[in-house]
Amino acid sequence: MKITIVGAGAVGASCAEYIALKNFASEVILLDIKQGFAEGKSMDLMQCASLNGFDTKITGTTNDYSKTSNSNICVITSGIPRKPGMTREELIGINAGIVKEVSLNLVNYSPDTILIVVSNPMDTMTYLAHNVTNLPKNRIIGMGGALDSARFKYRLAEALDAPVSDIDGMVIGGHSDVGMVPLTSHATRNSINVNQFISNERLEKVKQDTKVGGATLTKLLGTSAWYAPGAAVSGLVQAIACDQKKIFPCSALLCGEYDLEDLCIGVPVVLGVNGIEKIVEIKLTEEDKISLHKSADGVKKTNQLLKL
Ligand code: 2OP
Repeated sequence: MKITIVGAGAVGASCAEYIALKNFASEVILLDIKQGFAEGKSMDLMQCASLNGFDTKITGTTNDYSKTSNSNICVITSGIPRKPGMTREELIGINAGIVKEVSLNLVNYSPDTILIVVSNPMDTMTYLAHNVTNLPKNRIIGMGGALDSARFKYRLAEALDAPVSDIDGMVIGGHSDVGMVPLTSHATRNSINVNQFISNERLEKVKQDTKVGGATLTKLLGTSAWYAPGAAVSGLVQAIACDQKKIFPCSALLCGEYDLEDLCIGVPVVLGVNGIEKIVEIKLTEEDKISLHKSADGVKKTNQLLKL
């Protein structure tokens, strides 16, 4: 199983590390445009192999896409991260050109690959990847909901004073500070709905804290987060590589599902060896349905900036 990660920055390198630690991939190619950067990150990571017990071979390359040939899965993390106070949507001017070029280069050397898009604004970048590569829609996946759901579970565990392992929850909708839809009506603590443990007011605060989870970290760190994004991507990669048929909220191209079409937005999907094996249409409360459609309007507005 060969995985390529474009962008050896904090998110890409963290993703490479988590993939290696899970030891399911034979090879990871880390590519960056900055001379020697991916080579250095890969060498540093490989020097952890004997310490952390993995056999995955991580190789860095400076912008040589021939090294990515025949990758089963390609992850796009390249582009600029946001600074404190910025929205993800403000990155489109620079990141759209990067994601377009990277997507075409990757598919040129790996025509059968599955693309996972991380670069922001992620839903719009995922939509762009569809438009420029024309890959089958099951083979382009946007990573946002898996990260947002992890933040949702973190906030729920905090509010319930419970171990995160006891919590289940999902965030759908756009990967944006205003467009996320944390599904509080579905969230549970060991199969018991969380609204049995905390008030609606506290649940509302959990929702709000989840939606600005990325911005909160950007304010603290001066740049966007990397550990949880890298870990979230590695979970999607593993589900595909190991044909796990697990359900994740991912940005998928909708063609009528949830009464939405012609956009990529976070919905529950089954991930397996074919990428998106199935889009799962779950029962939503009226409130969540309205929130999802409002979120979709926001994503479509950002998509218009692509001028496709
Ligand atoms: C985040 O929310 C980078 O969009 C990513 O941290």
